[in-house]
Amino acid sequence: MTSSLIASRNALIKATELNAKASPDFAAKLAETQALLKRAAAEFTPLTQASSLGAEDVVITHLINHLQLDIPVFVLETGALHTETLALLERTQAHSRAPIHVFRPVLASVIQFVRDKGQDAMYQSIALRKECCGIRKMEPLARALKGQRAWITGLRQAQSSARAEVPMQDDSEVATKNLSKFNPLARWTWGDVWHYIAEHQVDYNPLHDQFFPSIGCAPCSRAISLGEEFRAGRWWWEDESAKECGLHVKS
Ligand code: ADX
Ligand code: SF4
Repeated sequence: MTSSLIASRNALIKATELNAKASPDFAAKLAETQALLKRAAAEFTPLTQASSLGAEDVVITHLINHLQLDIPVFVLETGALHTETLALLERTQAHSRAPIHVFRPVLASVIQFVRDKGQDAMYQSIALRKECCGIRKMEPLARALKGQRAWITGLRQAQSSARAEVPMQDDSEVATKNLSKFNPLARWTWGDVWHYIAEHQVDYNPLHDQFFPSIGCAPCSRAISLGEEFRAGRWWWEDESAKECGLHVKS
């Protein structure tokens, strides 16, 4: 088959069809995830879910709604998200039982950064990229987590070697920040995530149908090709070691 034929055939394949494949022990993993979410909701107040509206996060929000847990969700709307992500945010706000809170960067900081360093500053150096992440993600994250006892994320061990040891409950920042982190899908595979999405017909970001497994800001996310690693499309011009925006970097 020619590459153009493969490309046009692939364009018709949905991420659900391509990826949904439950692990043999999926039922046990799902039960473990549900139990963790219920325990977190019962024992940690206030508690919130961080959602990028990526595949893992829509699964977690679906579980929160399905289990009728009182866990609000927050989205860091960086001002640089894809239109597809913004549209999903609107649909999620309209349909979610759990409230969806949106945190945006300080406009004056964004304007000043873009005026001084340029629209494409993130490609010029790691320092400028981190400065942009600081303004658009880290400062709003600090506001979103202020006063929280715990947060829930969609981190999975299989996402990258840096995340291979991600635990389901991370208490490493309790002493410094009085903050626990729950990663209820830590042990899920990509196939498990899409199996859940397909089974429950969960609304998802259509960029996943265009080979974006990991979706962040538009300037810093691209589609991956066959054989590339899961996070290869994030900050692809940087070294593997630099590829975290700070959301999950321990202080
Ligand atoms: S990142 O650090 O490289 O940006 P990634 O995109 O893999 O992280 O997402 C990991 C988890 O971080 C998500 O499952 C979600 O819990 C949280 N997260 C990432 N981006 C956002 C966002 N824009 N708003 C809220 N939470 C986010
Ligand atoms: Fe800026 Fe890119 Fe970081 Fe988004 S991911 S905050 S656009 S550098």
